Amino acid sequence: MNDGSRPTTALAAATGAGEASRGRFITFEGGEGAGKSSRVAELAARLRRRGHEVVETREPGGSVGAEAVRHAILSGAAEAFGPLAEAILFAAARADHVDQTIRPALERGAWVICDRFYDSARVYQGATGDVSAADLAALEEIAVDGVRPDLTILLDVPAEVGLARAAARRGGGTADRFEKEAVDVHERRRRAFLTLARGEPKRFVVVDASQDPATVADAVWYGVSSRLGLPEKD
Ligand code: TYD
Repeated sequence: MNDGSRPTTALAAATGAGEASRGRFITFEGGEGAGKSSRVAELAARLRRRGHEVVETREPGGSVGAEAVRHAILSGAAEAFGPLAEAILFAAARADHVDQTIRPALERGAWVICDRFYDSARVYQGATGDVSAADLAALEEIAVDGVRPDLTILLDVPAEVGLARAAARRGGGTADRFEKEAVDVHERRRRAFLTLARGEPKRFVVVDASQDPATVADAVWYGVSSRLGLPEKD
């Protein structure tokens, strides 16, 4: 966007500050019940112990405007408008989140850890939705405006396992718009995430999230420390 209200260049150039002082942007992806939120919190704590400023955030949401859009999407209120409108809402939320939360944090040198980002759109609205790859790529480009993850951790878990965990977590509560879909849709999403990971092996680390939580957390830390050049030991 070139309306003057938004930085127009890629992040590293926009900061004018060079790579050393820019923070790092890590996203977590995976299906329902993969354990993303717990792993995000653990990784954040571990990085803070090393003295880094860490911003934990999530999508859809992560800024005032994006949280308002989150409610419209996850309640199912926007479903009637069709898959493209939903994809546009996710992109609108992402644009606000990038502008208000992610870019400012990275520019001041913080690490940003985000629970879901554009790979979820590629999978949910693309691979298992009805939105074309071209439309999604155009929306993605506008929404992120050059701010792309340095590293993406894919927490991979079989659909049945993830859905059972998600159901246990919500207890008697109702499933959201996406949790309600059939197991085979969730399994297709799992395969779509794995395909994305194979296509961008430098950005992705795939972790078997069906293991016990401590083992998964260690695998996440190994991925982060080895890919982003941190000493492995605390
Ligand atoms: P959330 O309650 O945050 O679930 P989870 O714990 O699974 O992350 O719900 C987010 C839902 O929105 C989830 O089902 C994935 C979906 N989603 C999309 O369809 N497209 C997107 O771009 C994003 C970020 C999420």
